[in-house]
Amino acid sequence: MIGDNQLHKLTDLFAGMIGHRPTACVVTFGCQMNARDSEKLRGVLDDAGFKLTDNEKADFVIYNTCTVRENANTRVYGRLGQLKNYKKKNPHMILAVCGCMIQEPGAAQIIRKKLPFVDLVFGTFNLYEFPALMKEVLGKKLAGQEEPVIDVWEKESSGEADSLPSKRTYAFKAGVNIMYGCNNFCSYCIVPYVRGRERSRNKQDILNEINRLTQDGVREVMLLGQNVNSYGKTLDEKVSFAELLESIAVECDLNRIRFMTSHPKDLSDELIDVMSRYDSICNHLHLPVQSGSNKILQRMNRHYTREAYFELVEKLRGAIPDISLTTDIMVGFPGESREDIEDTIDLIRQVGFDNAFTFIYSKRTGTPAASMPDQIDPQTASGWFDQVLEAVHETAAARCARFTGTDQAVLVEDRNRHRGGWLTGRTQHNLLVHFEGPADLIGTCVPVEITESKGFYLIGRRV
Ligand code: SAH
Ligand code: SF4
Ligand code: F3S
Repeated sequence: MIGDNQLHKLTDLFAGMIGHRPTACVVTFGCQMNARDSEKLRGVLDDAGFKLTDNEKADFVIYNTCTVRENANTRVYGRLGQLKNYKKKNPHMILAVCGCMIQEPGAAQIIRKKLPFVDLVFGTFNLYEFPALMKEVLGKKLAGQEEPVIDVWEKESSGEADSLPSKRTYAFKAGVNIMYGCNNFCSYCIVPYVRGRERSRNKQDILNEINRLTQDGVREVMLLGQNVNSYGKTLDEKVSFAELLESIAVECDLNRIRFMTSHPKDLSDELIDVMSRYDSICNHLHLPVQSGSNKILQRMNRHYTREAYFELVEKLRGAIPDISLTTDIMVGFPGESREDIEDTIDLIRQVGFDNAFTFIYSKRTGTPAASMPDQIDPQTASGWFDQVLEAVHETAAARCARFTGTDQAVLVEDRNRHRGGWLTGRTQHNLLVHFEGPADLIGTCVPVEITESKGFYLIGRRV
């Protein structure tokens, strides 16, 4: 795909038409999967000869959308409306919308009808066709045709975007897809519908990709999948996630290995054992619990109980005493009561999470939970949300404070945006640390003494 001459030629012709090298901006909504897909979109655009920018007044703007909650959708539609004004001033502007939102039935038609100025619409299943779609849309622009290119597939195919060029956000850390899709069908969740059935990548392809990344200066990888613990189930060669992780730890020259997301129902003893044996595998696990009530967990189709979750936490802390645990929690699920929320708050306190993403349940058309009785009114959900958040803040602050006075290895990510001469990095526990230091440390791992805990992040001093 790299070095696509036809695409270069079309980009050159487009540059001639608008009078300068065209700029391109990719805007990402949603999770790490989308962030990784956006790196591929940027890779293709860069390879084609576009100049990448963060400015949405660019000549080619792509919105890579998320639809996991209703507000993600609303935000996209609102911002697309704004882009219409930019397009009035720059009539050659090409506007594309892709990602999870597009896979919802009827979404492409809505865009076509209500946002006719959008030039290109495609979904998650044909992301790998992006170079061909670009050729089509550039060809139309050059021919003065206004008709949009709309190409949305109903199902996943055997093609994936693995071989597309990619433009990483960070030089020293990278996301690597190990699997696509999800088979879990949690009753509230739209992801299996918009990302398709679970499919794992070949182990050797993953190792090769990571080795190419480390040769290019990458020190940290995040292995990505909606449920990494079921990795390998669709492969002919039976290989578990624990085996994959161990191979990466042994064969790849990395300082840090992270992965997400782990579903509690599939977290194996074998995985805990591998995590405990390799220093390069970070002492951090994101283990979404969603609810502390067995009644709600069952209705969510999560396939574990609060007791099973406690057992997992005990096993994890037994094997890796220093481990950081983070989670996702949802409130306001249909049929949820005050007692269920009490159960969730109790679970948060008993586990003592290092952090948690908390969400108010959002009804997604087509999921089983959308037609369940006893939907919770927004005001009640919002009150519960505040109480759950308070419990999360308390436990997170207590956990964060345990690092004060310790020395931590910090992988430096960036200059600190708020304090001149300061840097920002992460500990292996995934906590942000701010400290004073020169910018040439960016991308390296340095020892930092933690002097102060701020609840969700740390302040430190170089040692
Ligand atoms: N595959 C991951 C998470 C995917 S979505 C997992 O299984 O944990 C990330 C988070 O969004 C979920 O953990 C859940 O807490 C939240 N989420 C998913 N669907 C939602 C919905 N309909 N309303 C509110 N939050 C939702
Ligand atoms: Fe959604 Fe559940 Fe799959 Fe996560 S595991 S993506 S919450 S269906
Ligand atoms: Fe959103 Fe799609 Fe991720 S719906 S959370 S961007 S998989």
